[in-house]
Amino acid sequence: MIPQSFIHDLLTHINIIDAIDRHVTLKKAGANYIACCPFHGEKTPSFTVSPTKQFYHCFGCGAHGNAINFLMEYNGLSFIEAVENLASSVGMQIPEQQSSTPTNLRSLHNERDKEAICTAQDLFEAMRAATQFYREQLKRSEKPIAYLKKRGLTGKTAARFGIGYAPDDWQHLSTLFTDYNSKKTSQTLARAGLVIAGKDGKQYDRFRDRIMFPILNQKGQVIAFGGRVIDQGEPKYLNSPETELFVKGQEIYNLFSARKSIRDAECVIVVEGYMDVVSLSQHGIDHVVATLGTAITDIHIQKLLRHTDKIIFCFDGDSAGNKAAWRALKNSLAQLTDGKAINFLFLPENEDPDSFISQNGKEAFEQQIMQSLPLSEFLLRGLSRNLNLQTDEDRAKLIRDAKPLLQLVKAPALALMLVKRLSALCSLDQRELETLLQIKQTAPAHAQKNLPRKQPTSLYHRLILLLLYNPKYCLGLNKALLTQCKDSNEELGMLKILVDFLDNNPDIVNSASTVSIIPYLQDHHYRSQLEKIESEILDWDNAIDLETEFTDTVKKLQEMQHKMRMTELHNKPLSLLTDEEKRELQRLAMY
Ligand code: UTP
Ligand code: MN
Repeated sequence: MIPQSFIHDLLTHINIIDAIDRHVTLKKAGANYIACCPFHGEKTPSFTVSPTKQFYHCFGCGAHGNAINFLMEYNGLSFIEAVENLASSVGMQIPEQQSSTPTNLRSLHNERDKEAICTAQDLFEAMRAATQFYREQLKRSEKPIAYLKKRGLTGKTAARFGIGYAPDDWQHLSTLFTDYNSKKTSQTLARAGLVIAGKDGKQYDRFRDRIMFPILNQKGQVIAFGGRVIDQGEPKYLNSPETELFVKGQEIYNLFSARKSIRDAECVIVVEGYMDVVSLSQHGIDHVVATLGTAITDIHIQKLLRHTDKIIFCFDGDSAGNKAAWRALKNSLAQLTDGKAINFLFLPENEDPDSFISQNGKEAFEQQIMQSLPLSEFLLRGLSRNLNLQTDEDRAKLIRDAKPLLQLVKAPALALMLVKRLSALCSLDQRELETLLQIKQTAPAHAQKNLPRKQPTSLYHRLILLLLYNPKYCLGLNKALLTQCKDSNEELGMLKILVDFLDNNPDIVNSASTVSIIPYLQDHHYRSQLEKIESEILDWDNAIDLETEFTDTVKKLQEMQHKMRMTELHNKPLSLLTDEEKRELQRLAMY
């Protein structure tokens, strides 16, 4: 364990610009430095580094962090290795940690966290240890090895994907965690989803006699497992439950490891199963990811489009595959911008990518990819299936079915093309069709740029940003203002957590004006949102008067609260107002 104070010192001593520039050449641009992002493929630089706040942020893929995070991600170092590396670059010596625990940075916020004794770091560590453990178990277990061999998997592939085996034992993890029964460890294992509580108050391993597929987050940390039964059995796959580390509808299997291949191939293939990914990769197709047994969500699509301009969804050639594809299509319509492409591939009946490539080889699979349908084609085919477009009735039905879908399309060129093709199909004039569909064609010149930068921000949002920039503003903030807010607004929630954290960590407030404080705040729920807010600092120019901005924002917040309280009191029948409330109303009205 390295003391927190040392890490803080280290971060104030090094310069992130030098640390990054050693690996990626940075160019000065205004107050910041920029480069093409090393974490995803791009041709124009959106990777930006702030010398004032010592953090980097990529407006393309969302990569965000300080110098330590950079070394971890870029060089694949562990946290300790990254700290050692930076410390030696400035001649600092890492001290030994005394026995006293550092300020527990997660313990501050909501009720659940108050009683928490394990941190997100502990959860990651438990997952890492379990992955390692399952891998070792696989090496010494005949049955799962024989099964994987039977399916054609090589040892090398299994190792690359970190595949392991959870033995058939109710408390096997107790052999790994020596303090298995301690309060902290049992809490950690439960919160990581590795164990389940039995009726007898004991805990039992969730995964037993299963082949284990680790699921990594975008930083390469294991956040969950998918466990497959050997041969037959129900459920075929048992997955980790949703935990603090793992939100199912958002994660994508293999995205971390496939990043480079996706960049090189300039496209990503999305399949349905773990085994499909593994098998395609063994056959030399590495730009492949899978969703985790859920439908494809907006978040999946947005995440993937940050890495590449082209997605190819690959579905089994059965009716379930077709249904899943149609759902994916609906979710894609609103996400597409011009310049991005989404294709649909349907394999022959009763084949999945694994079985197909195993039987037919890489070339045949690549052939299939070449024949995938562009979204527009799939859309129109799907809509006109079972219709006889020679009849007026069916043409009218086509238009009716197309309407809600076309209204979702935001990409101007795509929308135009779809309308053109639809009008040809229905033998209608394009203008007439547009009127029928109630689609307003925006001139391409107005096409929104793909950058979510300048958006109107709430007062809470502004305060968060100011506090991130300079935590000292916290000292001048009237906390009552926040506690009175009854708004159930997410940004308010974040703001409260931030203020709470700063209140409890005066050391950080007093010395953190030159480094980002987000890494100290390990609250997983809000982390990526805070990172996004922090990135707005990169757009500031020197002319912004922060003091005025701060006093202004606080004043506006006060006014807003006055208004809300006044409305609340006004909405109460006069006869129900207490004397106290009447006086308050008078006071507020005079304000
Ligand atoms: P498949 O049944 O197609 O799995 O389910 P697969 O990867 O091809 O597995 P093999 O070839 O039979 O070994 C697709 C995905 O749906 C999820 C898993 O993520 C799986 O990879 N799934 C499936 C579950 O989560 N639970 C299940 O019981 C089945
Ligand atoms: Mn399969």
